[in-house]
Amino acid sequence: MGGAAPWRWPRVLAHRCGGGLAPENTLAGLEAARACGCRGVEFDAMLSADGVPVLIHDETLERTTNGSGAVAETPFAVLRRLDAGRWFDERFAGERIPALGEAAARCLALGLAVNLEIKPAAGHEAQTGRVVAELARALWRGQSLPPLSSSFSEEALAAAAVTAPELPRGLLVETVPADFRERCVCLGAIALHVGAEGLDAATVAAVRGAGLHVLVYTVNDAQQAAALFDWGVDCIVTDHPERIKEPAAAG
Ligand code: G3P
Ligand code: MG
Repeated sequence: MGGAAPWRWPRVLAHRCGGGLAPENTLAGLEAARACGCRGVEFDAMLSADGVPVLIHDETLERTTNGSGAVAETPFAVLRRLDAGRWFDERFAGERIPALGEAAARCLALGLAVNLEIKPAAGHEAQTGRVVAELARALWRGQSLPPLSSSFSEEALAAAAVTAPELPRGLLVETVPADFRERCVCLGAIALHVGAEGLDAATVAAVRGAGLHVLVYTVNDAQQAAALFDWGVDCIVTDHPERIKEPAAAG
């Protein structure tokens, strides 16, 4: 791999649309992120029982909605009726689970760049990668900045790569594996998305030296973010975009 191409996305992304400011993975989160000056967001996309990509993190509905059961066994029309805001704060009562199409439209309207995490329910990896990539291609067609798709599931990313090879991809890991370079080459990934815990400057340099961009999640402390940027990290993902100052363009 040669050197990484310039980083094209904002250097601070609101995690789950800005989960510290508003209920995660909602349109209210997108509005809150934008209102505090943030220019980009990360959110999670999973398929409903009838194959509609929706924004939700967990495989089950209990934590972030007033519903119950598995997302993958619930049709979109049923997901749609659930309240996805009240659990966070009464002010957000009535907030719905957004379809990916709605979230994309709102991001484009607000000028928000997107890191689209493909979050397959177990057993739905390839299907989710394929459906999300196909839809993302259509939703961002003609836009100068495409979404950066990422996933912990290499099967989902491989399916996305076959479906929409032109869309940029990143491999999500908790810690940097010894064979990160081979795995990223195999997926055509341009970035490694790494958990902040235990990460050090030498590891960041090694990943960048392999020609990959480095994103770090989930960083909610401004000093920690500044240190990571000093190490050469391209982008951080935070629940609190209002706390983190975006530095100058990445090298
Ligand atoms: O993409 C970074 C982060 O979103 C990965 O973890 O569990 O919050 O989706 P999670
Ligand atoms: Mg995520």
